[in-house]
Amino acid sequence: MHFSTTLLATYGLLQVAAAFRLPFRLPWAHAHLNDGEQVPLALPTEESAVPRIAIVGAGAAGSSAAFWIGKAKERYGLDVEVDLFDSNGYIGGRSTTVHPYENPELQPIELGASIFVEANLNLWRATEEFGLYRSDWDEGEDTTGLWDGSQFVITTSGGWWDAVKVVWRYGFFAVSRTKALVQSMITDISNLYGQDMGSKPFTNITTLATELNWTDAVGQTTTEFFDEKGINHKWTAEMVDAATRVNYGQDADAIHALEGMCSLAATGASQVIGGNWQIFDNFVKRSNSNVYLNTTVKSILKNEDHYTLRAQTHGSSHLIERTYRAVIIAAPFYSSSIDLSLISAPVIPPQPYVHLHVTLLSTPNAHPRTRFFGLKDSDSVPTTILTTSEAVRQNPDAPPPEFNSISYHGKILTLDGLPANTSTDGGEEWSVKIFSKQRLEDSWLRRAFGKIGWVYRKEWDAYPVLPPASKFPPIKLEQGLYYVNAFEPFISTMETETIAARNVVELLMQEEFDASICKSDDTGPKNDNTTFVYGWDC
Ligand SMILES: Cc1cc2nc3c(=O)[nH]c(=O)nc-3n(C[C@H](O)[C@H](O)[C@H](O)COP(=O)(O)OP(=O)(O)OC[C@H]3O[C@@H](n4cnc5c(N)ncnc54)[C@H](O)[C@@H]3O)c2cc1C
Ligand SMILES: *[C@@H]1O[C@H](CO)[C@@H](O)[C@H](O)[C@H]1NC(C)=O
Ligand SMILES: *[C@@H]1O[C@H](CO)[C@@H](O)[C@H](O)[C@H]1NC(C)=O
Ligand SMILES: *[C@@H]1O[C@H](CO)[C@@H](O)[C@H](O)[C@H]1NC(C)=O
Ligand SMILES: *[C@@H]1O[C@H](CO)[C@@H](O)[C@H](O)[C@H]1NC(C)=O
Ligand SMILES: *[C@@H]1O[C@H](CO)[C@@H](O)[C@H](O)[C@H]1NC(C)=O
Repeated sequence: MHFSTTLLATYGLLQVAAAFRLPFRLPWAHAHLNDGEQVPLALPTEESAVPRIAIVGAGAAGSSAAFWIGKAKERYGLDVEVDLFDSNGYIGGRSTTVHPYENPELQPIELGASIFVEANLNLWRATEEFGLYRSDWDEGEDTTGLWDGSQFVITTSGGWWDAVKVVWRYGFFAVSRTKALVQSMITDISNLYGQDMGSKPFTNITTLATELNWTDAVGQTTTEFFDEKGINHKWTAEMVDAATRVNYGQDADAIHALEGMCSLAATGASQVIGGNWQIFDNFVKRSNSNVYLNTTVKSILKNEDHYTLRAQTHGSSHLIERTYRAVIIAAPFYSSSIDLSLISAPVIPPQPYVHLHVTLLSTPNAHPRTRFFGLKDSDSVPTTILTTSEAVRQNPDAPPPEFNSISYHGKILTLDGLPANTSTDGGEEWSVKIFSKQRLEDSWLRRAFGKIGWVYRKEWDAYPVLPPASKFPPIKLEQGLYYVNAFEPFISTMETETIAARNVVELLMQEEFDASICKSDDTGPKNDNTTFVYGWDC
């Protein structure tokens, strides 16, 4: 385990060497629009004999929900039709890539979720089953600095876990105790993949937290929890802070400790070459669902024993209306703008999300400008810069860091893995990713990096604001109506969304179809070489 990997968990810093696939295409998608011309969707409104399930959202949660339903259909010979809707024109939701200069001849960069780890058994298995290539995060020669708004409090290169500087600054046990805590959390998480928890779906996340012994961790801030475990306070206030800030845009003394520990789990940090969205794309393809992209679900109404869903394809005035036996909401409810008012559903508590600015840019300069960071020209400046709010905590007048993280991604490469000559003078450029709470203007970028080329900005409602909590949203809103993203205020990652989706599908299958994702007589891993994963191995 390398601590720099840990801290860099959301960076797509990987130098991708191999060639990869074509840009995103969806020949199998049903819905599409031509300019101005309306292509009506052939959606019958009358009840058909075949029961239908609707899934709202085609991110990690919705795409995997479709996949898990597909597994149940396969194993039980169920005749169920699945319609999958997404307002976006692509599959992947918060997991998507862009090409530098919007040029499909250049290797894409992750714009949202970048990294998953070996303990993420669903995503890991998916890459293997779907023949996708992972690239490991390589520590390389990167120098990492921890910026407090005025100065670098520590700068290291190579493995942080072993760095003498770290031991000197934070004491000998900070790292080993943190590792032990994170490892025990990972061990607890592995319960979620077992036959037992898989076949007995949970309906209440508060209860789940109790079963997994995580009530303390979700009920305290990361700082409180780590302090209580006797971990060096300065370490938590600086280094753990850096991890929660880069991964969740929140300080260690604000975010609950379960999510804080997730920020630190990075053994085998990887990403899919060409984009993580390919996992979700494959989930959907293998599910045989009907896919309606560019289509926003407007309302879900309950009529006796079925739901009526209304949706609209962008640019079309035609309103789709269709009835379903069950509906899975696989998007954060408050940003989905779905009208559920006519359902007597238990209230989904309001859930704010962290509004994050992601800025991607290219620059011919191999590192940020020394003077911007108050260094001398002869000093070297880190190419990965993490941040801490510790200076502000100590002195409220201190300037807070203007960004959450800056990371050099390596050179902009062609699909063949060669440095591309993208600079205006025909030279090579580096790509840089910045996370910040505010928009960073071009003038700021020029002060920080000197010459800049391509700039791409994206604002995300990235992850829930995650203060310590003792209650979580309901998973089952009504008979046949389920909410996957109830899980996000507990843990918000791609992997946990696939687990939450599996749990919801298991509930739905048991409750509505007297079926399951797995056959009860079909147990045990298919081969000895892989860890048993419920749903894959049954
Ligand atoms: C910048 C960034 C970095 C991140 N880094 C990581 C990381 O390194 N590793 C990691 O595991 N996680 C990371 N995350 C978190 C991760 O992206 C999310 O936890 C996960 O992708 C959520 O998946 P989801 O399917 O639940 O939601 P989403 O991906 O948000 O999918 C929901 C979908 O629902 C659609 N939708 C919403 N409303 C409607 C409607 N009314 N009708 C139709 N469709 C609708 C949306 O268009 C969207 O596509 C990161 C997130 C961000 C933003
Ligand atoms: C979605 O809409 C956009 C903008 O109108 C369009 O460019 C894209 O092709 C559409 N995608 C699909 C899959 O329909
Ligand atoms: C939770 O703690 C209890 C009591 O300490 C223990 O018996 C149980 O095995 C633990 N559960 C998990 C999932 O670790
Ligand atoms: C970039 O330019 C150099 C020097 O002109 C050239 O040798 C190299 O092949 C170019 N790279 C690509 C990917 O075209
Ligand atoms: C979950 O269980 C807890 C404890 O029993 C209860 O207080 C809470 O209301 C339940 N939550 C939901 C969403 O049902
Ligand atoms: C397990 O791995 C070994 C060595 O890598 C290999 O020879 C064997 O065929 C594998 N077994 C299965 C069932 O995949």
